[in-house]
Amino acid sequence: MPRLIIDCDPGHDDAIALILAHRHADVVGITAVSGNAPLAATTANALMVTALLDVDTPVVSGAAKPLVGEPIHAAAVHGETGLGGVDRIAHERSTAGDDAVAFLLDNAEPDIVVVAVGPLTNLALAIDRDPSWGKRIAGISIMGGSTDVGNVTRVAEFNIFADAEAAARVFESGAEITMCGLNLTHQFQTSDPLTERLRQSGTAKATFAAQIFDYLHDRMETLIGRRASAMHDPCAVLAITHPHLLRAEPRAVAVELRGALTRGMTVVDQRVSRRRDQANANVAYGIDAERAWEVVMESLDAREST
Ligand code: BDR
Ligand code: CA
Repeated sequence: MPRLIIDCDPGHDDAIALILAHRHADVVGITAVSGNAPLAATTANALMVTALLDVDTPVVSGAAKPLVGEPIHAAAVHGETGLGGVDRIAHERSTAGDDAVAFLLDNAEPDIVVVAVGPLTNLALAIDRDPSWGKRIAGISIMGGSTDVGNVTRVAEFNIFADAEAAARVFESGAEITMCGLNLTHQFQTSDPLTERLRQSGTAKATFAAQIFDYLHDRMETLIGRRASAMHDPCAVLAITHPHLLRAEPRAVAVELRGALTRGMTVVDQRVSRRRDQANANVAYGIDAERAWEVVMESLDAREST
């Protein structure tokens, strides 16, 4: 089993990613960051998922704001709590600390992969404290960026836009990076029939996931007129646990920090190969969505009946 640290900002899709990761990997720890909601909320949500799963995975909180400027959140999609529409699970758990950077540095091992599915502030601070950190781990699987469309601006995706300076440092760190951007995650969509399967299953995990899908569908119906939502963050877990389900290509990726229209864009070198700059990331382009959904649904206790 791969050994993972999940750096996240739960977040509905982050919560599904956490469940999937605990099914298919040894999750050494969860570090929380400000993103979809303020840090206190994303940390509380991560702890609540460990309670749902009844696992002892340590949850460590981290950065409350980006390297530069003020935090942005995604209440329009995830609600003020980051997990809108989901019944809170009562528990007595507390965090294992508030120094996510120290946790990332102390747990750097050659076989550890960091799955980063929120703004990249904690990772950039780890690199600041120890520039060799990115090379002391097996790699970083990022949900962030895009080779085409954005979701905060025309070209910028939320996790990169929310802390573009941090993202630039991570992409420049020399770590083995996999990028699961919107171009990939838009191929991996929820649907009402999947929600129905979760409801039929009826376990605590499946019910929690059904509430997540329902809430996202209601939000998306309002925002884009469609009852479907890209399940972004689990893709970055699948890239490590089920790499055969994704197709990725090595590419040079840089983060735009200045452009009036393009700040926070991941600029991917997609020129014909002879002209391309040296790759610093494996950029995911395709996913076998059908098989990937079966993996995710099984982790949510909704295996397909035969
Ligand atoms: C990313 O932003 C967040 O809203 C989601 O959790 C995901 O990590 C998609 O742009
Ligand atoms: Ca996220």
